[in-house]
Amino acid sequence: MEKTSFLIAAVVLLVLNHSIYSSAITNLTTDQSALLSFKSYITLYPYNVLADNWSTSTSVCNWVGITCCVLHQRVTSLNLSNMALTGSLSPHRGNLSFVSLLDISFNDFHGQISEDLSRLHRLKQVNFEHNNFTGDLNSYSWFGNLPELQCLLLYNNSFTGTIGSSLCNISNLEALYLGQNYLQGSIPDEIGKLSNLKILNLESNQITGSIPSAMC
Ligand SMILES: *[C@@H]1O[C@H](CO)[C@@H](O)[C@H](O)[C@H]1NC(C)=O
Ligand SMILES: *[C@@H]1O[C@H](CO)[C@@H](O)[C@H](O)[C@H]1NC(C)=O
Ligand SMILES: *[C@@H]1O[C@H](CO)[C@@H](O)[C@H](O)[C@H]1NC(C)=O
Ligand SMILES: *[C@@H]1O[C@H](CO)[C@@H](O)[C@H](O)[C@H]1NC(C)=O
Ligand SMILES: *[C@@H]1O[C@H](CO)[C@@H](O)[C@H](O)[C@H]1NC(C)=O
Ligand SMILES: *[C@@H]1O[C@H](CO)[C@@H](O)[C@H](O)[C@H]1NC(C)=O
Ligand SMILES: *[C@@H]1O[C@H](CO)[C@@H](O)[C@H](O)[C@H]1NC(C)=O
Repeated sequence: MEKTSFLIAAVVLLVLNHSIYSSAITNLTTDQSALLSFKSYITLYPYNVLADNWSTSTSVCNWVGITCCVLHQRVTSLNLSNMALTGSLSPHRGNLSFVSLLDISFNDFHGQISEDLSRLHRLKQVNFEHNNFTGDLNSYSWFGNLPELQCLLLYNNSFTGTIGSSLCNISNLEALYLGQNYLQGSIPDEIGKLSNLKILNLESNQITGSIPSAMC
């Protein structure tokens, strides 16, 4: 009897393990479909860079703006800065699981950034500056789930709300640019938890109150 239940437990564990494992398997093909989904949400690319270049007849590693890691053959960075792109962010980027750098600054991306981004656990640098992303900054507390994030650049967008304490648990954060948005309220004391923070830019918002002593 005991043996049987042990066996059943073992089988259940195996099956569970297998399904967790297989759902986590991604490869260059999943990177490709995530990038094609990303591209499909871009409504305007005046220089036709992506239309002609992001072609499935060649490896994504040869696509403009994409860098791959030779060892793993996976996409590690996406840099489409300053390409006059208009659109929103596809919610299906969570499979770009090796990406550590995401730079789409100086374009015209708008709308909210979906939480799916928090699945990119290797993200170190996020540069969304000079776009028109919107939403209450407090609804982006999931940025706190990115353990390796060092640079979060959101300067010159249309973010609203208060800084809250939600961004204050990104423990590796070194640079936080929130200037030129529509943020209000005061700087939370919890900002002192960001012990690696070297640059904090909050200019051109409606932030009030004093600078928390915890920041020193
Ligand atoms: C990626 O994985 C899928 C199954 O998840 C497989 O069909 C495909 O051949 C793999 N592609 C590469 C390039 O390994
Ligand atoms: C895409 O652009 C890259 C970088 O400019 C270039 O090396 C590559 O050959 C281009 N690929 C195609 C299919 O145009
Ligand atoms: C992205 O590319 C632009 C233009 O080539 C460059 O200026 C910028 O430094 C790159 N971003 C990162 C984070 O390397
Ligand atoms: C992400 O990858 C998983 C596992 O390969 C796959 O089942 C899923 O359809 C992919 N999602 C997208 C949006 O490509
Ligand atoms: C903010 O971005 C817009 C374009 O989206 C640009 O016209 C404007 O000059 C930028 N403002 C600052 C202060 O950089
Ligand atoms: C940004 O988007 C808001 C509405 O979502 C719009 O009112 C505003 O004009 C946009 N700003 C720019 C610089 O495009
Ligand atoms: C950071 O805080 C947010 C909400 O305040 C929470 O959802 C998230 O799990 C926290 N992340 C970490 C890594 O502690």
